Amino acid sequence: ISRGMATSSPMRSAINHVTIVGGGLMGSGIAQVAAQSGNKVVLVDVKEDIIKKAEESIVASLKRVAKKLHKDDHAKGEEFVKSTLANISYSVDLQKTVKSTDLVVEAIIENIKAKHTLFTSIDSVAPEHTVFASNTSSLSIGEIASVTKRKDRFGGLHFFNPVPVMKLLEVIRIDETSEETYQKLMNWGKAIGKTCITCKDTPGFVVNRLLVPQLGEAVRMLERGVATSRDIDIAMKLGAGHPMGPFELADYTGLDTTKYILDGWHEKFPDVELFKPVETLNKLVSEGKLGRKSGEGFYKYNTTK
Ligand code: 3HC
Repeated sequence: ISRGMATSSPMRSAINHVTIVGGGLMGSGIAQVAAQSGNKVVLVDVKEDIIKKAEESIVASLKRVAKKLHKDDHAKGEEFVKSTLANISYSVDLQKTVKSTDLVVEAIIENIKAKHTLFTSIDSVAPEHTVFASNTSSLSIGEIASVTKRKDRFGGLHFFNPVPVMKLLEVIRIDETSEETYQKLMNWGKAIGKTCITCKDTPGFVVNRLLVPQLGEAVRMLERGVATSRDIDIAMKLGAGHPMGPFELADYTGLDTTKYILDGWHEKFPDVELFKPVETLNKLVSEGKLGRKSGEGFYKYNTTK
């Protein structure tokens, strides 16, 4: 296949078939929103049991979306769930899957080696026109892309949790990202119902660069005894209009995730005060108190819920 301008057909400029790699919370959410807007989606993971969990969480989330979209029409809601699910298939065979895909969105663990292995394994197998993207929240897109021969067809697509609800998508360009790739990513983001913003390949992009230090500052404020965690949460909800206070949000996204992001930045930028280790956060993580998912973080949760 030639990549010359003259032969590039308009058919290939649209993204219709997508491969989402990683069946965790983010991967399942991305697969779901893509399928909701008519994309043919294959969700790939190495483990069958993760795929099964992903499928269950997609069904549960779709039912919530259906309730919202078709409040008074149960049949229409059911049809929405059914037709969306028909757009999603599941696989453990990544190399086979990417042979017929327009876009690969990687949402696996935040480990540069694992991401390099993944992209190396598909670079020579995926069609020429296929665009690669990473949903990383803490690693550099350029560093992830460095192992591929398609840096011009590489970018970042950073989604937010819960993906079916949060309207933002950060589209990250690296120096090599071509204008065509960038336009494809922006258009796809819009097509799946997100509002896209453009951002450089910098630590935390826009949202996490502002949000994560704020979570750290909230914990430091708690450590100084300024106010209780509950009162700080109330303050930020009622005084700043945030949907969740910093402690609720840290519990929601996972204290291990917040710690991981801060640690990575601290290592790279040891002089930045805002990135310095946060004692209480580290203590809770070391005790296995990771937030909602483990039943306890800054707050306790009813795990049977
Ligand atoms: N799937 C589908 N629908 C969902 C859902 C899901 N997983 N989770 C919530 N919803 C829907 C609910 O059904 C409900 O719909 P309704 O309005 O029709 O009733 C609506 O969303 C609101 O949910 P709830 O009533 O259960 O609860 P809240 O009103 O408290 O909203 C929330 C929950 C949307 C999570 C809201 O609290 C919120 O926006 N919190 C902030 C989340 C945030 O900041 N996320 C970004 C984290 S940073 C990140 O992701 C980056 C990463 O790199 C770390």
